[in-house]
Amino acid sequence: MSYPDDLREAVDRHLETLDFSGEPGTAGLGKAMRYSLLAGGKRIRPVLCLATARSLGQPIGDYLGIAAALEMVHTYSLVHDDLPAMDDDDLRRGKPTAHIEFGEAVAILAGDGLFAEAVRIMASVPADPGRVLEAVRLLAAATGVEGMVGGQYVDVSGQDLDADGLRRLHSLKTGRLIQVSVESALALGGVQDGRRDSYRRFATELGILFQIVDDILDVTGSDEELGKPQGSDERHGKVTYVSLYGLDRARELSAESHRQALAALEGIDGESEDLRRIADYIYRREQ
Ligand code: IPE
Ligand code: IPE
Ligand code: MG
Ligand code: MG
Ligand code: MG
Repeated sequence: MSYPDDLREAVDRHLETLDFSGEPGTAGLGKAMRYSLLAGGKRIRPVLCLATARSLGQPIGDYLGIAAALEMVHTYSLVHDDLPAMDDDDLRRGKPTAHIEFGEAVAILAGDGLFAEAVRIMASVPADPGRVLEAVRLLAAATGVEGMVGGQYVDVSGQDLDADGLRRLHSLKTGRLIQVSVESALALGGVQDGRRDSYRRFATELGILFQIVDDILDVTGSDEELGKPQGSDERHGKVTYVSLYGLDRARELSAESHRQALAALEGIDGESEDLRRIADYIYRREQ
């Protein structure tokens, strides 16, 4: 089974059309934003969003705006994650990181710009305003203190984490954005609460699976495969699934998490083939 490449191509085509600067004074900032956004990447979050739309029987074209916004928020998080004050990494998506290419100040602003433009793009989706507002609120919540930024804080603040603490870190740092990739599509589709439960269970487990695999690949991958520096976690003394459990147990936990994600899919009321493919891809990925 393979990744839904048609959805990934739709995302890439749409992102390519985005231009952020309309005047010469900010052209350099727009260039830096596009540099990181269009450098490649697996597009897991927007593809998940479009796969959820398809699962609901909705036309994917209506969801490209929120899909793009999700990828922009994710890209902003990567640009900032790589900064010298954070993980201090110089390779991302197979290219020099934004601060290496454009300097630290521009990289910080490019991240800020991607976040703000993402909110603008999501809020401008031509659909029922109540549904759009819910999607925007969910995105902001998943990115904020109870979400990605909070998780990044726990990650960099060197807290002593046990197994539960690590699961919580993962669910904040990575899980919430993956969850909202599914949930924002449910919001735009006007899906009622009861029908959301299985999708939510699936997305929550997928987020955990994603970050366990990311931790494993940090140890077992290579710079070329990953497009980012191998061994970054160990260099920074990060608590990861591998540092806490060892490689073999981390692999078992990823297998368990993959099973749980597939089990959650059984319960969804809708087409699940693309979502299953994404779960398989995340489990087996080597990049
Ligand atoms: C990497 O995300 C950062 C984490 C959340 C662990 P991805 O592995 O999805 O990165 P890209 O988008 O494919 O570059
Ligand atoms: C970063 O986690 C997650 C976010 C950017 C929110 P990592 O630091 O593990 O991501 P990589 O390994 O650099 O991609
Ligand atoms: Mg990090
Ligand atoms: Mg990092
Ligand atoms: Mg990592």
